[in-house]
Amino acid sequence: MSSAVDSPRSAPAALPRTLGNTSIVGLQWGDEGKGKIVDLLTEHFDFAIRWNGGSNAGHTVKVGDKKYAFHLIPSGILRPECTSVIANGVVIDPLKLLEEIDNLINQGVKIEDNLRISAHAHIVLPYHKLQDQLSETAASGAGGGGKIGTTGRGIGPCYADKANRTTAVRLIDLLDDGRLKDKLQRIVAQKNMIFAALYNAPPLDWQPMFEQYRACGEQLRPFVTDTTRLLHHAWKAGKRLLFEGANAVLLDLDHGTFPFVTSSNCGTGLSVGTGLPGPAVQSTLGIVKAYSTRVGGGPFPTEQDNPTGNQIRERGHEYGTTTGRPRRCGWIDCVALRYTAAISGATGLCIMLLDVLSGFNELKICTHYEIHGTKTDWFPADALELEHVTPIYETLPGWHDPLDNVTAFDQLPAHAKNYLARLECHIGVPIKIVSIGAARHQTLIR
Ligand code: GDP
Ligand code: IMO
Ligand code: MG
Repeated sequence: MSSAVDSPRSAPAALPRTLGNTSIVGLQWGDEGKGKIVDLLTEHFDFAIRWNGGSNAGHTVKVGDKKYAFHLIPSGILRPECTSVIANGVVIDPLKLLEEIDNLINQGVKIEDNLRISAHAHIVLPYHKLQDQLSETAASGAGGGGKIGTTGRGIGPCYADKANRTTAVRLIDLLDDGRLKDKLQRIVAQKNMIFAALYNAPPLDWQPMFEQYRACGEQLRPFVTDTTRLLHHAWKAGKRLLFEGANAVLLDLDHGTFPFVTSSNCGTGLSVGTGLPGPAVQSTLGIVKAYSTRVGGGPFPTEQDNPTGNQIRERGHEYGTTTGRPRRCGWIDCVALRYTAAISGATGLCIMLLDVLSGFNELKICTHYEIHGTKTDWFPADALELEHVTPIYETLPGWHDPLDNVTAFDQLPAHAKNYLARLECHIGVPIKIVSIGAARHQTLIR
């Protein structure tokens, strides 16, 4: 392993060459450090592509003393020579997107023709956010049984309208006044009836909404294009493509801990979200925290709702980028990781935030579950079944030295190397990158 230096040129070029077009996927419940890895690798890629989720995602990237928070824009935007694409599978809140563009420009980031946005991406509208919040509040009132613990960003209702088709609004609709007016007039009338009946909510007015969103469309117009065509041309021309997955496999609508998931596919679905077929991707890097965290509701077998979890939270600053909520913390779960690595087809792992584990006398790795008296190595993704599992742990010695001065894998404390070797063995996928801090240079690349 060799270290990377904290400069705009940070990831050895050999790694992207061996990877080919690469998909970055979170293998836990999100916030694994995907943004950091995308920022690091995009130095050697021509395109950074977001293909799922919306502003529920929060990817923080630290470069020198600057911190950037991304919700909709690919973290690759920090590399001006790399084209950042928001593809058709993303659901876009135009107000949040414009705010994000402004914030980044104010931080000195170039956002011009290096940002391309799909005309076919679906639009999050005020009634989506309202419905998300009203339904979560109503579920809390009923004893919390139906509450997901969403980010409140309107993601679920927007994807539901996409599937419903007749109540969907896409970015291309914001660019045509007549079409947008017709749609909003009709859809807002429908939503008002539903919200009044379900939540006794006052009606929304479509007219100011129309004015506001047509203005958003005008501001976004220069970025809008057919990204499917753009990406096919890029692929055929041999351009290097990096795909930035949002959320994570355990939040995947089909394969996550349903119903405590988000409303898009996160570890699967890249082809749906971009229009590129499977062979356009050669490698999948699974991004994994050296421990586990989860925001929102749902089962979490290795959760440590105790001083150990608190110690991880404080050392790792485990508070959400998007909502500021404290993240639930626990030991790493190799049963879940074997499953998510398999689902996503991970060809390599990036183990993140290893530095957070310095200072524990011992560390635990969950290797199997016991369910109804039977030992299993397969992850039962169904939330109801997960409630009944007891984790089986392997206990390893910890290390106390901070990792601040480590610049190469071989310099890691012996017990840290042993911890990584056990993870690699239990998950069955090779570790390609180890991250020991938020900065670019705090990265050990194999
Ligand atoms: P993402 O959603 O997967 O991109 O992850 P988030 O950005 O939500 O959360 C990861 C957090 O950990 C961010 O604040 C990063 O700056 C930070 N981070 C990333 N890698 C490391 C690391 O190796 N060590 C530490 N201490 N922090 C890291
Ligand atoms: P990144 O990309 C962590 C979680 C929410 C909630 C559930 C459903 O930063 O890793 P939603 O608003 O999507 O309907 O909420 O999914 N969630 C995330 N948790 N990181 C994320 O994204 C998340 N995106 C969604 O907390 O439990
Ligand atoms: Mg995040």
